[in-house]
Formats: sequence, structure tokens, C-alpha cells
Amino acid sequence: MHPITPSQSPSSGPTVYERIGAAPLADFAVGLYRRIAEDASIRSMFSDDLSPGSAAVGDMREFVTQFFGGPNAYSDRKGHPRLRARHMRFAIGQTARDAWLGHAMAALDEVAAAHAIDSATLAEMRAYFAHASAFMINHSD
Ligand code: HEM
Repeated sequence: MHPITPSQSPSSGPTVYERIGAAPLADFAVGLYRRIAEDASIRSMFSDDLSPGSAAVGDMREFVTQFFGGPNAYSDRKGHPRLRARHMRFAIGQTARDAWLGHAMAALDEVAAAHAIDSATLAEMRAYFAHASAFMINHSD
């Protein structure tokens, strides 16, 4: 799955958003940034405010909502995601990517348990984050 392609399930079934709704994706954004805020290895790359109401969390919530098949609030506000280009101002090496992905996976696990997300949907979301985060690497450690 290419990271800028809207998510569809393997054939043409319901999107992830149609299956799980908005709340798990909002909770994912909060949980991801809560973990990043506590990780000294990558914290300094991010904005000072990573609280649930912050711009950083709002950007992530709107992006993942849109990517997984929900409303296009991210693009309505900011245009085409161009995620790799938007990350070029940060030096993202393998180590930072692995740290980020670890937090994304932990946030996903928390959300999956809280919202009883089915295993196929969880696997689809995990695969996206693993693949897309590798695509953000733009620097060698
Ligand atoms: C699946 C992988 C990823 C996705 C979907 C993703 C998504 C996003 C989005 C939507 C934004 C907001 C961009 C904007 O509108 O300006 C963002 C910001 C950012 N991302 Fe990522 N990202 C990913 C991977 C990574 C990785 C691996 C790193 C490395 C540590 C990273 C570091 C950052 C930083 C530092 C910001 C700025 C956040 C802020 O405003 O404080 N991202 N990301």
C-alpha cells in the first residue's frame, strides 16, 4: 500500500474508517504523541505541545482519519498530504523511525484493546504504519 493512497480493504469492502469509526483514530493520535512526548531519543524533533488538544495531535488525527477512509479534513485544511516531503525538514534515520514505529504500534495496541478492533483490521493498520514509516527515512544514522 502506498502511503499517499487512500486506504481500501483488499477488494472493495468497507474502509477501515467505516469499520471502526472516528474514535479509535482520534485516540491513536493522542496515544502516539503521548508516547513520543516521553521519548528523549526523538522528543526534540517535535513541537513543544503534544497534548491531546495540540496542533500536532490534530494534524495526525485528521491525516489518519482521511487515510483510512474518513472525511478529508486534513486535505481540506492543508492540501495534498505529501507526507514524505513534509517530513524532509526532519532528519529521520532508521533509529528515529524504529522509535516512532514502536510508539505507533503500542498506541495501536492500546486502541485495539479499548475499541475491540478485529484482528484483520488491526493487521491492516499495522502494515500501513510499518511500511509508511520506512518510507519517511531520509537520512542515514
Ligand atoms: C506512518 C508513518 C508516519 C505518518 C503517517 C506520519 C504522519 C505525520 C503527519 C500527518 C504529520 C503532520 C504534517 C503536517 O501537516 O505538517 C507529521 C508530522 C511529523 N512527523 Fe510524522 N508521520 C510518520 C512517520 C514519522 C516518523 C518515522 C518520524 C520520525 C521521528 C516522524 C516525525 C514527525 C515530526 C517530527 C513531525 C512534526 C510534528 C509536530 O508538529 O510537532 N513522522 N507526521
